[in-house]
Amino acid sequence: MDKMIEPKLGKVCVTGASGFLASWLVKRLLLSGYHVIGTVRDPGNEKKLAHLWRLEGANERLQLVKADLKEEGSFDKAIMGCHGVFHTASPVLKPTSDPKEEILGPAMEGTLNVLRSCKKNPYLRRVVLTSSSSTVRVRDDFDPNMPLDESSWSSMELCERLQIWYVLSKTLAEKAAWEFCNKNGIDLVTVLPSFVIGPSLSPELCSTASDVLGLLKGETEKFKWHGRMGYVHIDDVAACHILVYEHKTAHGRFLCSSTVLDNNELASFLSAKYPSLPIPKRFEQQDRPYYEFNTSKLKNLGFEFKTIDDMFKDCIASLVEQGYLSSI
Ligand SMILES: NC(=O)c1ccc[n+]([C@@H]2O[C@H](COP(=O)([O-])OP(=O)(O)OC[C@H]3O[C@@H](n4cnc5c(N)ncnc54)[C@H](OP(=O)(O)O)[C@@H]3O)[C@@H](O)[C@H]2O)c1
Repeated sequence: MDKMIEPKLGKVCVTGASGFLASWLVKRLLLSGYHVIGTVRDPGNEKKLAHLWRLEGANERLQLVKADLKEEGSFDKAIMGCHGVFHTASPVLKPTSDPKEEILGPAMEGTLNVLRSCKKNPYLRRVVLTSSSSTVRVRDDFDPNMPLDESSWSSMELCERLQIWYVLSKTLAEKAAWEFCNKNGIDLVTVLPSFVIGPSLSPELCSTASDVLGLLKGETEKFKWHGRMGYVHIDDVAACHILVYEHKTAHGRFLCSSTVLDNNELASFLSAKYPSLPIPKRFEQQDRPYYEFNTSKLKNLGFEFKTIDDMFKDCIASLVEQGYLSSI
């Protein structure tokens, strides 16, 4: 208990609460006994929020508040009085015409907007920001024999040159968060998940979950670009956020990734395991550097990752249950 933030259970805010990852975080926080203020863009959208209201403890300890990353001060009400803030909201999409407006602005300015609300809250103990392992690995100057760890940062110049706007948005947002929190004395911890696999609590699939469904139905387009990629179970990502929030000595960045695989390794594992699914046999090879992740910082807090087998077993079972795949 002395390793934990006191009081362990209080009021916490989760931004973007109805998202794929945030829904699992809300689920775990409620199960642990926290009072959760979730922010959503449209609290009137009953269909989109129904899965949150079905969670155990939701009727007693969940409140949903309207907030938008693009509106200054929008998070003040949700964050005031909370001990902890989990900032997960960020655009996860491939921008169509205007990356600055659609993705870079909401990610970076939106994060600063959330942090300015945090600064006004005298009860705040810690902010946990959902960053991404992509903020570590998009660079062309590392030694492939040395696993990448939290000391590595993606090259913003390379992201711009390759027009990888999502990665640029996450890198800009995390860097801006560190600068703001260091300057304003806010206790910040960041979680850097790799590609998240697992059941979607919402029947509407987010972009990541739709990509996985596509792969299982035989599409090569999205995973072709993955080349080499880290994978992690969605429940591990939620658990990791809570661990680094509660653990008193947790500080800095935490890579959260179970297994790194080439897309061809992933495809052969999946097609052997699920022969009835039309999973692609091979992908066009991209010229990408080999890398591994060193996740010892998180493991040293006692964290254990679920396997790639668990991730896809749980994900596929849920896609079958939701009617996206016929039984296997
Ligand atoms: N999925 C992955 O593999 C993965 C890996 C690493 C990191 N992450 C990070 O995890 C977080 C959650 O991603 P996800 O995969 O769960 O995707 P998701 O389901 O699309 O969730 C994104 C959330 O951000 C919210 N959001 C987007 N723009 C917003 C705005 N202008 N104002 C307020 N909220 C806004 C969305 O709200 P609405 O519901 O209103 O659209 C949604 O709740 C993101 O920070 C993402 O970068 C994801």
